Amino acid sequence: FSAFLTDTFGRRHRYLRISLTEKCNLRCQYCMPEDGVKLTPRGQLLTTEEVLTLARLFVSEGVQKIRLTGGEPLIRPDILDIVAELRKLEGLKTIAVTTNGVNLARLLPGLKRAGLDLLNVSLDSLVPSRFEFIVRRKGFHKVMEGIEKAIEMGYNPVKVNCVVMRGLNEDELLDFVALTEKKPLEVRFIEYMPFDGNKWNFKKMVSYQEMLDRIRQQWPGLEPVPGEEADTAKTFKVPGFRGQVGFITSMSDHFCGSCNRLRVTADGNLKVCLFGNAEVSLRDCLRSGATDEELLQIIGAAVGRKKKQHAGMFSISQMKNRPMILIGG
Ligand code: GTP
Ligand code: 5AD
Ligand code: SF4
Repeated sequence: FSAFLTDTFGRRHRYLRISLTEKCNLRCQYCMPEDGVKLTPRGQLLTTEEVLTLARLFVSEGVQKIRLTGGEPLIRPDILDIVAELRKLEGLKTIAVTTNGVNLARLLPGLKRAGLDLLNVSLDSLVPSRFEFIVRRKGFHKVMEGIEKAIEMGYNPVKVNCVVMRGLNEDELLDFVALTEKKPLEVRFIEYMPFDGNKWNFKKMVSYQEMLDRIRQQWPGLEPVPGEEADTAKTFKVPGFRGQVGFITSMSDHFCGSCNRLRVTADGNLKVCLFGNAEVSLRDCLRSGATDEELLQIIGAAVGRKKKQHAGMFSISQMKNRPMILIGG
């Protein structure tokens, strides 16, 4: 495995998350401030070619999974071309997208044809008015239609990401779990994480332990399902249910020890940790004509500076980072 993509703790980074755009058709409260964020001028965002050049380089060094994120990746006009071109990369096993689902139903046939393997859809409430309050826009029925269509087209499981926030949607945990009875979904409850402009505070965060306790009151038989070491989610199943339930415990029980993820932002910065603010511009290297070897040196140096784990929820809630919309999850 590539020395450039191995950090000083021996972690091998096989999973690259590429953000394709800073724009979004929703305005989720946990992701960005009400007035939105200052967007990078278009000329400073990665072009299709640059995205593919970086993807090729990372895959040649051992990356096996690429997830396209945003903003909202499905509003990028070249999304189908990017997926189709990624599909040609030998060594890339998995192409995944994380989407808010609004444009999903319309784009699914094209995405499937282009070779998309995995789909994660954000959905924070099953109550339309509440959904609209959280995302500050309309679109609930389109998202549900997108999820249904993804199931029909054979995506199994479709992962549903639900950021749990006290006072907003924490009373819907059981309804979300109930969805997994008949549908091949993996509903993943995510602990609310702090990012610039999202007004995180400890009281709004519902911990993994609390969620598990509440669900076990209804379904005491909820049992763990073994997963891959590098998974972000701890997975469980109610015996007899078709789907699964996962918990992403970034705050109460971080999983940095098995982290295999690197990120490239839409403006071309390499980010070696979601909660690290040391970034390096791969875009500038590309545009100054750096060779693959030179790019790899820079990538390797950044990976070499990756910390063992994030600094803890209170420290990261104080630190300067990007708003989530400019990272991509
Ligand atoms: P799979 O590939 O299906 O396992 O998805 P994923 O969990 O890697 O990606 P997704 O985009 O669905 O993200 C779900 C949640 O996990 C989001 O809240 C992400 O911010 C969070 N997440 C993803 N990667 C990391 C990570 O490296 N560190 C932390 N702390 N959280 C992460
Ligand atoms: N805390 C936890 N998860 C978040 N996401 C966005 N912002 C936050 C946050 N503050 C999730 C979205 C999306 C994924 C990419 O990240 O729900 O599914
Ligand atoms: Fe990896 Fe950083 Fe997330 Fe920890 S916080 S799992 S090191 S990206």
